[in-house]
Amino acid sequence: MIEEIVPEGVAAAEHFGDAPGAALYPEELVALGETGEARRLEFTTVRHCARRALGGLGLPPAPLLPGVRGAPRWPDGVVGSMTHCAGYRAAAVARRSGMSTLGIDAEPHEPLAEGLLDYIALPEERQRHTGLADLHPDVCWDRLLFCAKEAVYKAWFPVTQRWLGFDGALISLVPDGTFRARVLAVPPPQQPCSPTAFEGRWLARNGLLLACATEPRSV
Ligand SMILES: CC(C)(COP(=O)(O)OP(=O)(O)OC[C@H]1O[C@@H](n2cnc3c(N)ncnc32)[C@H](O)[C@@H]1OP(=O)(O)O)[C@@H](O)C(=O)NCCC(=O)NCCS
Repeated sequence: MIEEIVPEGVAAAEHFGDAPGAALYPEELVALGETGEARRLEFTTVRHCARRALGGLGLPPAPLLPGVRGAPRWPDGVVGSMTHCAGYRAAAVARRSGMSTLGIDAEPHEPLAEGLLDYIALPEERQRHTGLADLHPDVCWDRLLFCAKEAVYKAWFPVTQRWLGFDGALISLVPDGTFRARVLAVPPPQQPCSPTAFEGRWLARNGLLLACATEPRSV
């Protein structure tokens, strides 16, 4: 599924459930630390996916350690993103020469908990949500908005090393499976070139919502 929404030049891999043969590098085990079984499994399987994705770019497997604020540290010359939710894990990578950043997110295709939409949505997004939900009631647009925002954050953070709140980007979801994001956060003076927009694709299938965000390509 994830391969359907990543742009050209991106290698992706996914796994439904956990991969029995997946293993961690010793340094990944150290980074994971003492944790519960569920976290160990998602951490391990998503790295198994990431190494398969690296293989898709013709690159060898490598340890993938969590870096600043949990953002994964990719091999030199690579950008990428990982996601996991109940029953699903996915990773996507690209060569930095062809893409500045990328973020993916997966969510269960279920409505958000009561009150959460008000917390994550800007007034314009809430207004748009009402229209989309009326026209296409089969899609949980509130959860999809959350999913797209998280994908945008995962693309934003590695290039800026800065937090971006839910009010930091205005997302426009389009029923054709695309979305756009306009960053509202003001770039700090030392980062005048931080991204101002993202574009992406989304998919609803098999009880899951997937989103992938990248910086728009200059033509
Ligand atoms: C970091 C965050 C996006 C993770 O999303 P999530 O749905 O909870 O979890 P997912 O399973 O989809 O993704 C987890 C993976 O994201 C990656 N990740 C974590 N922090 C990250 C960061 N700062 N930047 C990029 N990727 C990050 C990691 O690979 C992590 O997996 P791992 O710990 O096994 O390596 C989320 O917890 C968060 O902090 N969101 C608030 C920020 C936000 O979304 N703002 C909206 C801007 S419009």
